[in-house]
Amino acid sequence: ELKVVIIGAGSSYTPELIEGLSEHRNVLPVKEIVLVDINEERLEIMDGFVHRYCRHLDYDVEISSTTSRQEAFVGADFIACQIRVGGNKQRIYDEKIPLKYGVIGQETTGVGGMFNALRTIPVMIEIAKDVEKYCPDAWIVNYSNPTGLVTEAVLKVCHVKMAGLCAGGMRPRWWCEEALEVSEESVYYDYIGLNHMNFTYNITIDGKPITDEQFSKVAKKCATVSQDLIHKLRLIPSQYTQYYFHTSKILSQLKSQDKTRGEAILELEKQIWREYSNPENDDKPKTLAKRGGGGYSRIAVGVMEAVYNDTGKWMVINVPNNGTIQFLDDEAVIETACFVSRDGIKPLNLKNYPTEVIGLISAVKNYESLTVEAALTGDYDTALKAMLAHPLIREYDIAKPLLDEMLEAHKDYLPQF
Ligand code: G6P
Ligand code: MN
Repeated sequence: ELKVVIIGAGSSYTPELIEGLSEHRNVLPVKEIVLVDINEERLEIMDGFVHRYCRHLDYDVEISSTTSRQEAFVGADFIACQIRVGGNKQRIYDEKIPLKYGVIGQETTGVGGMFNALRTIPVMIEIAKDVEKYCPDAWIVNYSNPTGLVTEAVLKVCHVKMAGLCAGGMRPRWWCEEALEVSEESVYYDYIGLNHMNFTYNITIDGKPITDEQFSKVAKKCATVSQDLIHKLRLIPSQYTQYYFHTSKILSQLKSQDKTRGEAILELEKQIWREYSNPENDDKPKTLAKRGGGGYSRIAVGVMEAVYNDTGKWMVINVPNNGTIQFLDDEAVIETACFVSRDGIKPLNLKNYPTEVIGLISAVKNYESLTVEAALTGDYDTALKAMLAHPLIREYDIAKPLLDEMLEAHKDYLPQF
């Protein structure tokens, strides 16, 4: 019987995960769930809610809470990480400051994503070191963003088992399911790229390549990118490629909005936490559906279930490249289709990859690996090089002052600099 620890359990996403675990109780026998957070107030509210929610779900599992992760790690099988270092308050700087310099501000893409990584990586390394010490056989199932960079950094420094997750990788499968009315398991594809910078191709249903008509239906689900462009590429891009393919348009949208996504979330969260605090309330608040993390529990629980039952399940996950993409380093973490089993996550061979997107993927990977290095060393020049390598930043006259302003805004969360 299993013990699951949730790091960052004071996140409003926690009930999602609990729901997923409950739905899989027949294949994933969890005995104990420990909620861990550094925010005692949120932890206490979440603890109360999760107790009520489990009763509501008729889910028989031991729930406890602690601010000490070391204590929680003893005997743990899975460590689900969903931290946001500095909270949405720091995210808002990631979104706002870049706009002053005419570059995209976003929590995972561009300089916003870079600073998210610089804040998150040192903390995730500390967590992983505790995993090494207190539960070396446990799997880290990470959802903390930017998940690809975080996974690359942790696996570079620590000897742990780790899966870097994002629902985006499974989305083309779910889109096929909805648009073509087929079962999820009948759909397979090749998947090249990185977290939030990737392309799905060679889609098959029951082993047969999809027709042009089917492709069109699936493409419509990717609403952030021009349909014409998607058809010219005949690839299903990550929704986040909008920042690269429609930069000017998005930039003017971001500049004209009165609230950033982070600011909107602070408002949403007030409502969500009101609902969690209400002792009468024992069900997932409706407002939670307005957060973007939907699908998270399907992926996280999917990995746990595949590892525990040794199923060899097909899933798109962030893993070290190890030769999968020939033009990237072995240690570079990529997002790709894998088989998940007890021995680990095995990336699958990529067939005839599309050459027209390798420039973008390489450039973004170059930025990512430099950012990982900067996060681990606190080296200013490496951080600057990372920004110069990023296709959405690139210009020295922008990069330098922007870096300085970002370092200042986030200084309380960047002990390495
Ligand atoms: C998607 C992305 C995540 C991201 C989330 C944002 O699920 O894959 O990486 O964190 O959306 O949601 P939010 O509600 O925080 O904007
Ligand atoms: Mn994601």
